[in-house]
Amino acid sequence: MNILLLGSGGREHAFAWKMTQSPLCDTLFVAPGNAGTATIATNLDFSATDFEAIKAVVIKENIEMVVVGPEDPLVKGVYDFFLNDADLKHIPVIGPSKLGAQLEGSKEFAKEFMMKHQVPTAAYDSFTAETVEKGCEFLATLQPPYVLKADGLAAGKGVLIIQDLAEAQTELRNMLVGQKFGAASSKVVIEEFLDGIELSCFVLTDGKSYKILPTAKDYKRIGEGDTGLNTGGMGAVSPVPYVDAVLMEKIETRIVQPTIAGLQKDGIPYKGFVFIGLINVNNEPIVIEYNVRMGDPETEVVIPRLKSDLVELFLAVANEKLADFNLEVDERSATTVMLVSGGYPEDFEKGKEISGLENVENAIVFHAGTKLDNGTVVTNGGRVMAITSYGATFQEALQQSYDNVSKIQFEKMNYRKDIGFDLI
Ligand code: AMP
Ligand code: GLY
Repeated sequence: MNILLLGSGGREHAFAWKMTQSPLCDTLFVAPGNAGTATIATNLDFSATDFEAIKAVVIKENIEMVVVGPEDPLVKGVYDFFLNDADLKHIPVIGPSKLGAQLEGSKEFAKEFMMKHQVPTAAYDSFTAETVEKGCEFLATLQPPYVLKADGLAAGKGVLIIQDLAEAQTELRNMLVGQKFGAASSKVVIEEFLDGIELSCFVLTDGKSYKILPTAKDYKRIGEGDTGLNTGGMGAVSPVPYVDAVLMEKIETRIVQPTIAGLQKDGIPYKGFVFIGLINVNNEPIVIEYNVRMGDPETEVVIPRLKSDLVELFLAVANEKLADFNLEVDERSATTVMLVSGGYPEDFEKGKEISGLENVENAIVFHAGTKLDNGTVVTNGGRVMAITSYGATFQEALQQSYDNVSKIQFEKMNYRKDIGFDLI
């Protein structure tokens, strides 16, 4: 079958890498893709949210399945666009409906969903420009630090954690009245601060049943020792050594099961990934957010550990046969180290030639912000590429990743030298 994959990051290159290994995949198209996906699939030069262009290519190329990488097209309703179009409605879209995507698209929607279905989450209240003074009074009743979350999508920047009450109140006004994050902060969720270790749980659901995917931990800060600004993610490790069977059992029964059952009870069509962000507070997992997609760079370590055929797995999701699917996982550890442009996550330059890729051995290079410029691979984003390796232990895998990182060069290349530092 011909398949269309939407997106352009390392996550999408990892999906493409795995899907093109399937005998079920004839031609894979990626919109818009990157220099990595160009080597194994056909890139299409339009954005993942250009629904009319998507429709045209699906019909022209006889595409029989669409897989959605990022949240944007989902929040904008690509699933419903297919369902409501007579020419497209028979084509499965792997990803939730527009309503389901509100789990990521609106923090308030997610909080209400969790309260309704008794999924453990931090106490909260939400405010608008009309109730900003009430919000300031509410902050004064809480203990620091104060957690302020823009309701809508804010490119991962919409959460502020502030120690000082007066500063928190000023920021609340900036968000609600000053539109600090534009329309995304026309509503703000104020949440109880949770103190504990963060972890993520990745679930794939067909709306009835679910599979829990291998655990992974990412490293969000730009600097060694988890310091400096937040990024999209600088590296990842799978599995997470400290997630034991007892904790996993709690996560499954208290969080995953009520989440999937809640989607069903509320009649929310959902055939796709649920990425649950958790904080482990004294061995009690509590949800801080839902995402309606896979994590990036977590995908670059989770997907390489799947032994099962990914296209078969997606077909099981589309056909609501996930309960019968036998998900096979590689026992080895996988790690990835993200190479980024100097200056990222602030200003950086693009268009730098990347050399040394031909010397990489025993590692998989997943491209993120790259493109082809007259046949040369050049940088085209902040996060440039993820170097993934396997090992009997995560330390062994990391050694392989770093050995290969040292073979790759581009001007002002930066990366974290301490991925996995907290797991030893
Ligand atoms: P989110 O976009 O909801 O994942 O939030 C971004 C980051 O803020 C998370 O990765 C956590 O580090 C932190 N965070 C979010 N909510 C809380 C909370 N209630 N308590 C403590 N830290 C939080
Ligand atoms: N790596 C975190 C995310 O994809 O949101």
